Amino acid sequence: MSDARREAARPASVRISGWGMYAPERVLTNADLAKLVDTTDEWIISRTGIRERRVAAPHETTATLAAVAAKRAIAVSGLAPDDIDLILVATLTPDYWMPATAALVKEAIGNHTAAAMDVMAACSGFVYAYATADAFVRGGMYRNVLVCGAELLTRFLDFSDRNTCILFGDGAGAVIVSASDQPGGGMQGFELTTDPDGAYMIWLPSGGSRSPASGETVGRGEHFVRMEGRETYRFATKTLATTAQAAVKRAGWTLDEVDLVIPHQANIRIIESVAKGLGLPMSKMFVNVDRYGNTSAASVGMALAEAVDTGRVHVGDRIVFVAFGAGFTSGAVALEWTAEPLHGRRARDVVPVASVRAPLDWDSVDPMPQRLRAILDAGPPVPLDDVAPGELDEARARGRGTDSSKEVSA
Ligand code: ACO
Repeated sequence: MSDARREAARPASVRISGWGMYAPERVLTNADLAKLVDTTDEWIISRTGIRERRVAAPHETTATLAAVAAKRAIAVSGLAPDDIDLILVATLTPDYWMPATAALVKEAIGNHTAAAMDVMAACSGFVYAYATADAFVRGGMYRNVLVCGAELLTRFLDFSDRNTCILFGDGAGAVIVSASDQPGGGMQGFELTTDPDGAYMIWLPSGGSRSPASGETVGRGEHFVRMEGRETYRFATKTLATTAQAAVKRAGWTLDEVDLVIPHQANIRIIESVAKGLGLPMSKMFVNVDRYGNTSAASVGMALAEAVDTGRVHVGDRIVFVAFGAGFTSGAVALEWTAEPLHGRRARDVVPVASVRAPLDWDSVDPMPQRLRAILDAGPPVPLDDVAPGELDEARARGRGTDSSKEVSA
């Protein structure tokens, strides 16, 4: 980044200039899951509102999912990749423990100038990263920050545990947070909280310094997400409402002035309960949990992009993002929307393909969970839209490890 850009004056305002999302093509239905665990479509819909979720293809990784959403957001903003000064990736399912997934995203989007780091606050990660981006731009340190929320949760789930495997899915959302010379708009208030009493309510026990990976930890299934559903539910319903209220209050708004709430998409019953707690009708709550399940840190970014692109957000609208997650963390941002929603059309030309170089002297194992593989292999082939001829077959071959090429594409 040039000294001139680094020394940029404090902007008149900080605004979202671009947005984008990416959902892998492969759909995993409740009926599919009922072949793996003792559950039913009816149980899952009535308890969670989830009808289906997406599963990343073998050649995809968290970084490639994030990069496709990021490329769309950059196209919508009208910026070039090198205009991005900082890349933040919120995820709890990184490609590796190190390097940061954000570093891989930087390469995949063709940026040569940005700093890059990950933000780990579980499902609240996108909101935490958004507030961080706003602070960097508001303080005059950077002009354009890429915020991605991306998750490949299906590789961290125990597909024999009906309590968890039905809830989560894969995907990515991204926004560009930019300095503006126009006053007004953008984030008007925020709230971020962490309650460590909930540290072991949703967690992934092994692979960290407390319990390093070993044959024993693998044997005990300690590299999968574990969750106390009821405790998490209780925390979520209470905290989502109080966190949103705090952000709205800091913005100097009243709740009835809010046009749209974009909540973390964990469970329709949680969203309904939050609407009730806030005294808002469900028509003011954006919902897509039925189609993507809980995509953790990707959820709010995906929902925001979909809300804008489906005409639910207008210039001047007062919107609130709000999320909760492992930690327990929660976060909310109260924001006045300023960008022209029709700019979302600029993302249509972005081919949903991203490449991350893999190391030369190492091959990963087949990344697909064995139990899922059986179901997915039996399903119809999955066309990726707009992929160049032959690219899909090559990508599939690479995903199965039958190609010596070291490039991973999504
Ligand atoms: N199919 C059928 N039955 C099931 C299933 C399933 N998939 N899962 C659980 N059950 C059973 C339970 O075993 C239990 O049976 P029992 O009474 O014989 O013991 C019964 O259904 C009721 O279980 P509850 O846990 O009480 O069901 P509940 O209505 O609370 O719904 C759920 C469970 C959906 C997990 C809910 O508690 C929830 O949504 N919790 C919040 C989870 C969440 O949002 N997690 C994400 C956190 S974000 C992050 O950072 C990752």
